[in-house]
Amino acid sequence: VKKIAVLTSGGDSQGMNAAVRAVVRSGLYHGLEVFAVQRGYSGLINDDIREMDLRSVGDIIQRGGTILQTARCKEFVTPEGQQLAADNLRKRGIDGLVVIGGDGSYQGANKLSKLGIKTMGLPGTIDNDIPFTDFTIGFDTAVSIVVDAINKIRDTMSSHERSSIVEVMGRHCGDIALYAGLASGAETILVPEVPYDLDEIANRMTENFSQGKRHSIIIVAEGVGKGENISAEIMKRNGIEPRVTVLGHIQRGGTPTHNDRILASSLGDFAVRRLIEGDSGKGCGIVKGELVATDIDKVVNTKKQFNMELYELSKRLSQ
Ligand code: F6P
Repeated sequence: VKKIAVLTSGGDSQGMNAAVRAVVRSGLYHGLEVFAVQRGYSGLINDDIREMDLRSVGDIIQRGGTILQTARCKEFVTPEGQQLAADNLRKRGIDGLVVIGGDGSYQGANKLSKLGIKTMGLPGTIDNDIPFTDFTIGFDTAVSIVVDAINKIRDTMSSHERSSIVEVMGRHCGDIALYAGLASGAETILVPEVPYDLDEIANRMTENFSQGKRHSIIIVAEGVGKGENISAEIMKRNGIEPRVTVLGHIQRGGTPTHNDRILASSLGDFAVRRLIEGDSGKGCGIVKGELVATDIDKVVNTKKQFNMELYELSKRLSQ
């Protein structure tokens, strides 16, 4: 490849900017011409593409959000939209594309790859729901934000001897809840991957308080249900009303952690090097510290394995 482009798509995540910077700077370092597409796939369709230089990605490694902006684009779902996107790249002679995003973005990258554009996907989502990578870009920062919030909630819960429900993001994947729950010592972690028993949770809460516990924290992934509804169900069972905090989009903003910046930098550079070597149609990731590239087809058709070991550990430690 001689000319490549980069775009961010789907829900943003902290570290996307660091990944854009890495793709642009690594591409330029290797003598490529590098372009950026604004607003994800809709920018491809609308031909919103500009050439980048070293300075166009200055001062962004520390910023949340994405300077390229992002969108969920309906038109791109159609074969006509995909063809138009591929044509817009081709007319500029761009033959390589790095897509930074989550599951839906990978599906788009897969389509473009089948239309002959050499495409690499980078896992940019706070959800950590992409298989064939241990971590996605943004996940570490999101977990840190949730842990920080739970620390604060715990202070006031202890003073008042209260129970709290913290609702976090994750529609299909409970990783934010799992990692933040384990790291913050939550008593109960509710995730879409594991069934739960409200009677057992309500009884344990009553027992814990009667044995001198001063607070009780339940972390709920949004895919399980609304924190408010779970609170009402617990109240019905044991008379204790857990106070609900919905963290929402706070989890998706702010400066990325050093882990996310390093992951984004390594993966961005890796994707460019793979494109130069002629690789295409791959999702990039990190598995046990190694950078890996897996067929996007396989990535989009595989469900990420839930880490039951960590889940069991959190149960053992949160008595
Ligand atoms: O996929 C990332 C994510 O933040 C999910 O955790 C969440 O369910 C969803 O996006 C929220 O999307 P939106 O910001 O479009 O409401």
